[in-house]
Amino acid sequence: MGDRFSKEADGLPSAAAIERLVAAAAEVREAAYTPYSHFAVGAALLTPGGAIYRGCNVENASYGLSLCAERNAIFHAVAEGVRQFSAVAVVTENAVTPCGACRQVLAEFNLEMIVIVADLAGGRRVYRLSELLPDAFGPAHLGN
Ligand code: THU
Repeated sequence: MGDRFSKEADGLPSAAAIERLVAAAAEVREAAYTPYSHFAVGAALLTPGGAIYRGCNVENASYGLSLCAERNAIFHAVAEGVRQFSAVAVVTENAVTPCGACRQVLAEFNLEMIVIVADLAGGRRVYRLSELLPDAFGPAHLGN
């Protein structure tokens, strides 16, 4: 991680928090249910208070019903009454960025959250969600 993401004073997650988040995403990835794609994804969301909410992808024999890891994590957190997120880590075998649908769902809660994508060998890239979803449609467009 660069220094840019290691200063709590900036309101950015600390380097230690990011390490915990990536580790949580890697761990929950092990629970992914992927008999069709064999592409396991783990996602972990960080709250401003340091709590972590996790999700894995869950596929279905009716393929279109499959749920991505990122949305599973968001829905889990929201069901627990949590709606504020500062970062999300996504772990896959090849450090892919979240799909378009998940970008939109993440953006509902914080378009400026940090997105860390990691692979299994320690490779990482870091984005702002707003970089991944430019000119986003969001709550403000509906007066929220
Ligand atoms: N998948 C995710 O969980 N997150 C993404 O951002 C990309 C795709 C899942 C959906 C499906 O279970 C598998 O990866 C292959 O598309």
